Amino acid sequence: MKLRLGVNVDHVATVRQARYRAIEKGMSPEPNPLEFALEAKRAGAHGITVHLREDRRHIQPHDVEAIAGKVKLPLNLEMATTEAMLRYATRLCPKNVCLVPERREEVTTEGGLDVRAGKKAVSRAVARLKKAGITVSLFIAPETEQVEAAADAGADFVELHTGRFALAAGRAGVSREVKRLVLASNLADSLGLGVNAGHGINYANVRALFDVPNLYELNIGHTLVARSMVSGAFHAVREMLELMEGYGVSRSKKPGAA
Ligand code: PXP
Repeated sequence: MKLRLGVNVDHVATVRQARYRAIEKGMSPEPNPLEFALEAKRAGAHGITVHLREDRRHIQPHDVEAIAGKVKLPLNLEMATTEAMLRYATRLCPKNVCLVPERREEVTTEGGLDVRAGKKAVSRAVARLKKAGITVSLFIAPETEQVEAAADAGADFVELHTGRFALAAGRAGVSREVKRLVLASNLADSLGLGVNAGHGINYANVRALFDVPNLYELNIGHTLVARSMVSGAFHAVREMLELMEGYGVSRSKKPGAA
């Protein structure tokens, strides 16, 4: 089965928000996550992921709605299990929702969802989202108890957290983390769950995940945005230099001269 790529565009918005907190008339906020998503589609991506965080630190509701309306790819909305977000998702009805834990102080989603501890609330949320026709995934650590709890909660998919895998040092460390992912993936598959994976996957480590069976989709964000910035730098600088070459050419007269 071909491995699908879900492109997470959150950090395009992170760069935009660094300059444009509030958008006022006359501003042209850039970069635009919608444009990045359209380019990702052009390149062959299979889906677009956005995380609408409670603190709105990167993606804004208008980004989600623009991407949902204009990018003809399945949208995967990552969100916390809160009443406000459940209402938002059941109104928007994206193809997929991935429930993730959210802590305001974290830089990015650091741990998996503790489905075992919060099974009642998670099960209720899953049922509500599924009733609205949404496919539901739970972002969990690759642990037996969490996979079992995800199946009990009625999820369609689990997204296995690859953060520990991405940070593993040396061959032995990587192999230990891959083994955890293999066990979790096989268990999820045997319980009828689809299996995605994400967090910290990059150009250097993606191949090590080929040993993990049953993978349907990888959700990747940071490394794609980082690579785009560097690989696009040459053309961005060239284009500005070309524009600046017009200096003195178009200004043939001194200001105020008749
Ligand atoms: N999957 C989930 C559930 C995430 O929350 C994130 C972002 O933290 C990702 C995938 C993408 O991770 P990264 O930006 O490290 O590729």
